[in-house]
Amino acid sequence: MLNIVDLHKSYFLGHVKVDILKGINLSIQNGEMVSIVGPSGCGKSTLMNILGFLDTPTSGKYFFEEKETSCMSDKALSSIRNQKIGFVFQQFHLIRRMTAIDNVCLPLIYRGIKKKQRLQIAAEVLERVGMSERMHHKPSELSGGQQQRIAIARAICTKPSVILADEPTGALDTNTSKEIMELFMELNHQEGITLIIITHDPSIAKQCRLMVRIKDGRLC
Ligand SMILES: Nc1ncnc2c1ncn2[C@@H]1O[C@H](COP(=O)(O)OP(=O)(O)OP(=O)(O)O)[C@@H](O)[C@H]1O
Ligand SMILES: [Mg+2]
Repeated sequence: MLNIVDLHKSYFLGHVKVDILKGINLSIQNGEMVSIVGPSGCGKSTLMNILGFLDTPTSGKYFFEEKETSCMSDKALSSIRNQKIGFVFQQFHLIRRMTAIDNVCLPLIYRGIKKKQRLQIAAEVLERVGMSERMHHKPSELSGGQQQRIAIARAICTKPSVILADEPTGALDTNTSKEIMELFMELNHQEGITLIIITHDPSIAKQCRLMVRIKDGRLC
């Protein structure tokens, strides 16, 4: 479902061109669970941002569900992003002044879903991630693991086909990381959501069916 061919990404620092990704080829099937590993600065987040249409490659092709995306308009790309992709980050990225359920409702507002239905969907996904009892709490009243569960609920409430998670357990202790990984694996097995996880943790990488290692801008 995701296919990238000879993908390059370079940044300019002043007049100096820095090549970050140097010809990545990668094919990820529907329902796959993939980890992306590699040293800090090797381009993991850069690759993930491109996969999630938050950034564009310098060259190369990216097919999303068989459609080549490089010639698509920004509007078409953000529509794929909103409809098909859920994001989870290391620092949760919840809105601090909003309760858990209001955070989960946000992507549903952007979809134009009415309030009553929004609250119903949000309550269902909060139950799915085991956070029903905390839905009226604000992020500051929740532990890191609980905040990540809320962030996962927000990512899945629009029924994405892919979740892109950038070091989702990077800020959590070992036991909480395990619980969050169990939740991800359930979502992968039970709902068939394709999961792509950047991690520094070898034990997490090993739990994924496919491990992709980036070194010197290439897969190895
Ligand atoms: N917007 C940008 N402008 C210039 N250089 C950038 C930009 N974004 C990232 N880089 C550079 O690209 C390289 C790869 O960054 P990236 O964030 O993808 O690494 P990473 O593998 O995710 O690292 P980490 O494990 O530390 O999160 C780094 O050298 C970084 O400085
Ligand atoms: Mg990164």
